[in-house]
Amino acid sequence: MALQQKGMHGTWTSRWTFIMAATGSAVGLGNMWKFPYVAGSNGGGAFVLIYLGCILLIGVPVMMSEVLIGRNGRQSPINSMNEAVTHSNANALWRSVGWLGVLAGLLILSFYAVIAGWALDYIFLISSGELQGINGESAAAAFNTLLSDPSRLIFWQTIFMCLCVAVVVGGVKKGLGIAVETLMPLLFIMLLMLLGFAVFKGNFSAAVNFLFSFDLEALTWRGVLEAMGQAFFTLSIGMGAIMAYGAYMPQNANIGKTILIVAFFDSLVAIISGLIIFSIVFATPGIEPSAGPGLMFISLPVAFGSMPGGLLIGAVFFVLVSIAAWSSAISLLEPCVAWLMEAKHIGRAKANFVIAGIAWILGLGSVFSFNIWAEYKVAGFTFFDFLDFLTANIMLPISGLLITLFVGYVIKRDVIDFEMQGTSARVMQVWQLTIKYIAPFAIALVFIMGVYDKFFA
Ligand code: PHE
Repeated sequence: MALQQKGMHGTWTSRWTFIMAATGSAVGLGNMWKFPYVAGSNGGGAFVLIYLGCILLIGVPVMMSEVLIGRNGRQSPINSMNEAVTHSNANALWRSVGWLGVLAGLLILSFYAVIAGWALDYIFLISSGELQGINGESAAAAFNTLLSDPSRLIFWQTIFMCLCVAVVVGGVKKGLGIAVETLMPLLFIMLLMLLGFAVFKGNFSAAVNFLFSFDLEALTWRGVLEAMGQAFFTLSIGMGAIMAYGAYMPQNANIGKTILIVAFFDSLVAIISGLIIFSIVFATPGIEPSAGPGLMFISLPVAFGSMPGGLLIGAVFFVLVSIAAWSSAISLLEPCVAWLMEAKHIGRAKANFVIAGIAWILGLGSVFSFNIWAEYKVAGFTFFDFLDFLTANIMLPISGLLITLFVGYVIKRDVIDFEMQGTSARVMQVWQLTIKYIAPFAIALVFIMGVYDKFFA
């Protein structure tokens, strides 16, 4: 079989479009909503260090492997994986990797759209001026009013899904490509504006202190698992998104260098978001940095509401979060859409409506878990918590582990040599070392300890 394949979905216009698309996928709610509160509740600095270690030693090598499989197959993750399995004469069970990834992606999309809907709602809530000068209690009440209103949640979830479909329907060049080329520069400009505000008007030094001072005591195995889950989630790996985007990458782009740039941008945005959020939070007395998921929707509005010009900045902030979520969610939709088009020979539009429809219906479970189903729990989790834990902390590590093993030990050498042409011997060595020995061991260890800690300790 020829090593150079041609896919039916097309390719990105250039390497930079891939970088923007992959960064767009990576930078999302994970960076702006989840990272700050997870870092906050795990003691700050020590967590951040482990998180960055996971990005470099596990995330980057896995991400490179995913792109390699994707670019070699030039199809949806399921079919690219099938192709690699067939070409390498590997056991058919390896095909499950593609399925696992795409399924995780669909589950994530379902709840991602609900949370992104909160951000959309908050653009308008903050702009309305209603949150001017509110205290923590009223901010919590405002957030609870949103959560307890299924129709308001469904309204925004629906709008968000439609935004995603509008992009993905356009295809790789005209839909996804143009969207990321417009949204990503905008995102960076807004981020820098907010950073400026945080430095001049917030308590920037307290934020730096918090994110970079080490409190090893506050770190548990569960925290380490969360750091690794977060590294997977934030880099969009283990769920087909990056494999799908890799399938559209120009053949002459160097995988190693390109992925390092993406991982760098992603970590930069997570840290800048953390600095922005904590500068603003620490500038307002009486707000806890470890507030949990409510950090962005309760603590921040209080802080914004008490600063001069804060409401305007707050509105900009939630627009930024929505854009980040949008450019991520399209990468969750695309792999499933690409697969459906290939499998059923249907058009892009039809495939979009089917997949977005399924994700939307599943998303209702998350919507209701904040109100009418809040009492129903599986293993102590609400439907939403369960999906979040299942995907980020179980499915993604397993899928990441399988990818490292597949690319480290199973895939035929000629595929690696072909896709990694032009990579320096040094980079090749480090990558092989991490993919074969460090990443699988680290993923397995952290996964077992973290799950043990969660359920049995
Ligand atoms: N990486 C995104 C974030 O940090 C989440 C995501 C996961 C997006 C998987 C696409 C695919 O929010």
